[in-house]
Amino acid sequence: MEKGVSVSDLFKDEAEFIGKRVLVQGWVRTRRDSKAGISFIELNDGSSLKSLQVIADPNHPNYAGLLPKITTGSAVLTEGTISASPGKGQSIELQAERLHLYGWADPALYPLQKKRHTFEYLRRIAHLRPRTNTIGAATRLRNKLSYSIHRFFQDRGFNYIHTPIITSSDCEGAGEIFRVTTLDPALPCRTDGEDIYLSDFFAKPTFLTVSGQLQAEIYAMALGKVYTFGPTFRAENSNTSRHLAEFWMVEPEMAFYDLEDDLDLAQAFIRELVRTALNDCAEDLEFFARYIEPELMARLQAVSESAFEVLTYTEAVDILKKSKDEFTFPVEWGSDLQAEHERYLTEKVFKRPVAIINFPRSLKPFYMRVNDDENTVAAMDILVPGIGEIIGGSQREERTAVLLEQMSLKGISTDDYRWYLELREFGSAPHSGFGLGLERLVQFITGIQNIREAIPFPRTPGHAEF
Ligand code: 4AD
Ligand code: MG
Repeated sequence: MEKGVSVSDLFKDEAEFIGKRVLVQGWVRTRRDSKAGISFIELNDGSSLKSLQVIADPNHPNYAGLLPKITTGSAVLTEGTISASPGKGQSIELQAERLHLYGWADPALYPLQKKRHTFEYLRRIAHLRPRTNTIGAATRLRNKLSYSIHRFFQDRGFNYIHTPIITSSDCEGAGEIFRVTTLDPALPCRTDGEDIYLSDFFAKPTFLTVSGQLQAEIYAMALGKVYTFGPTFRAENSNTSRHLAEFWMVEPEMAFYDLEDDLDLAQAFIRELVRTALNDCAEDLEFFARYIEPELMARLQAVSESAFEVLTYTEAVDILKKSKDEFTFPVEWGSDLQAEHERYLTEKVFKRPVAIINFPRSLKPFYMRVNDDENTVAAMDILVPGIGEIIGGSQREERTAVLLEQMSLKGISTDDYRWYLELREFGSAPHSGFGLGLERLVQFITGIQNIREAIPFPRTPGHAEF
């Protein structure tokens, strides 16, 4: 099959290509015909936000009768010479000497028109929405960020660990887990008192992972610095613009790191990812600045340069209690911070990313290290404007006795977590880590309002199409 040049490569080296003959393959965004009968085709191949303007003369012997079929959505090949474009809006164009139609799209039926569609509408056509500017740009950004996440950790000597998707532990202890079973729900449940899981695939209850942290800890206790980066599942029945049932989480875990080291790493990480976006995705970001958030570039520039604000949970509660803003959920020491509180702190009070540390012990999972005051744990939540929490992490409890006490307080079975306890019994060491939600990062960097536009195929309550 013939292979051509990508539109992004053409625009990267415009001057180089002028006068050269190239072959381009892609999908038609629009075709308009001038009064003189010349056709102007906007061809997009997904490599770039930009489309290539293709100029075709209907009298050309090679494609008589073909042009009317070059409709929005059609897949085509064109070959011709690149020239400097006299028209407004593009610097180069292609004079088509050859046109081939791979697949036609019937304009009466094709669901994407050259106009703005609502995101709700686009979600219903998730098989076609990557052909839109917004989803195309978000997809390219997500790709670059994923690459840059690996690069960040690889450059610092971390090992990438593939932690399991199917697990029998509920790391976060919140119980928002999807069950994995081969038992047929249509068959009646056994009632003879026998353990029904004995006939299930794993002979015990199993779930889709809510976090790879506990398994990452195992490898951190051997390889020192590790990270996991994969799909994560939570059956939270929360239909918000920040929650998905399936999302991607990056979780580094480091031996010999305390909370302060953890926080430093998280800060360097976010700043580097923002810089990557600014450097490598400038064109796509400018699109988001133009259509979604006018102040986007200035906001990202500021995040890439300024230090995060660090305050304790107790200090955060004091600020919230003194606030003149009315909150739906009242704040008292010991109550969980809600999205409205997080956003007040990061958007109104500090106007930059905020790290809140040392949360009440009662609010956080069993594995977090208990502080000397015995009331708080060495936790950190990083909040960013527009989103709220983007990172959650902590120093881990490395002392067997304290861990046992935490497990008993939170009703965690010591039998199920025997291996986790043994890591404390055999060569325990201080260690820390955190988790970053990739989709929230994409939202933060693009200004996209709803997390459903930050992942190719969103899974939310009632929605698992495609
Ligand atoms: O704060 P969380 O629950 O932390 C953990 O899971 C730890 N085990 C991480 C660690 O220390 N290794 O989740 C971490 C991040 C959140 O800050 C958020 O960005 C994202 O994961 N996240 C979600 N993103 C989309 N949809 C959901 N339902 C999410 N739940 C968490
Ligand atoms: Mg959290």
